[in-house]
Amino acid sequence: MSATPDRQRQLMPVDIRQLKGKSPVVCLTAYTTPMARLVDEHCDVVLVGDSLGMVLHGLPSTVGVTMEMMILHGQAVARATSRACLVVDMPFGSYEESPQQAFRNAARIVAETGCQAVKLEGGQHMAGTVRFLVDRGIPVMGHVGLTPQSVNALGGYKVQGRGEDAARVTQDAAALAEAGAFAVVLEKLPEDLGARITAEIGVPTIGIGAGVGCDGQILVLDDMLGLFADFRPKFVKRYAEMGANAAQAIAAYAADVRAKQFPGPEHSFATEGKA
Ligand code: KIV
Repeated sequence: MSATPDRQRQLMPVDIRQLKGKSPVVCLTAYTTPMARLVDEHCDVVLVGDSLGMVLHGLPSTVGVTMEMMILHGQAVARATSRACLVVDMPFGSYEESPQQAFRNAARIVAETGCQAVKLEGGQHMAGTVRFLVDRGIPVMGHVGLTPQSVNALGGYKVQGRGEDAARVTQDAAALAEAGAFAVVLEKLPEDLGARITAEIGVPTIGIGAGVGCDGQILVLDDMLGLFADFRPKFVKRYAEMGANAAQAIAAYAADVRAKQFPGPEHSFATEGKA
């Protein structure tokens, strides 16, 4: 299994930008220190995604995620991220009101977590805000197509950019690239549209359910590790079945405790001795 190429230093947004056309950009989410340690070795970008609201905190959508949640998990991930570029999501309600509101909250995320960039959702209508942040020293990753923070307006987690809607999504991605975003996430788009946008814009596209033609890919770590038995979206390839393995292990432990099979002598301390 290949680790990322040898690096003298942590990747910065400008390095990610330069991967376009040279090397696929490998990205995963992480929300905790131990998972970040595993991901950092293999990825170019580690994203503390606001998906943590659903994955870790059991929220029904990402809409209820707060700045405090993003900063707490951002700090945990930063402790184990020394190779990959660390990006933290701006939560719903923390940036849409004005460029000034976005700067205040983005600056807080960067200062309090030590991340290299923030990610925010939205296309043409957010381009001015992206420009405002970039001009003031905060690198921004964009996110268009299916934007989960707008689930209530979109009416569900539907594929975007079909038919005439393709032009809107393309303009959204182009507006963010022109505004200075160093990369743009394309979520849940037809495969050919993902490839077309990738050919049209000058910064890397990071696909999630947007086909192999994107410059890079991202998945939610917990999804690709198979932690959830009942969540199997089409765009996720499961590289492990950790949920099933964990359930087996927990059942075996419970059975051992009930049968007085655990702890054994090897897990117990003698009256005298060093260990
Ligand atoms: O919140 C998230 O995890 C994300 C992606 C997976 C793109 O935004």
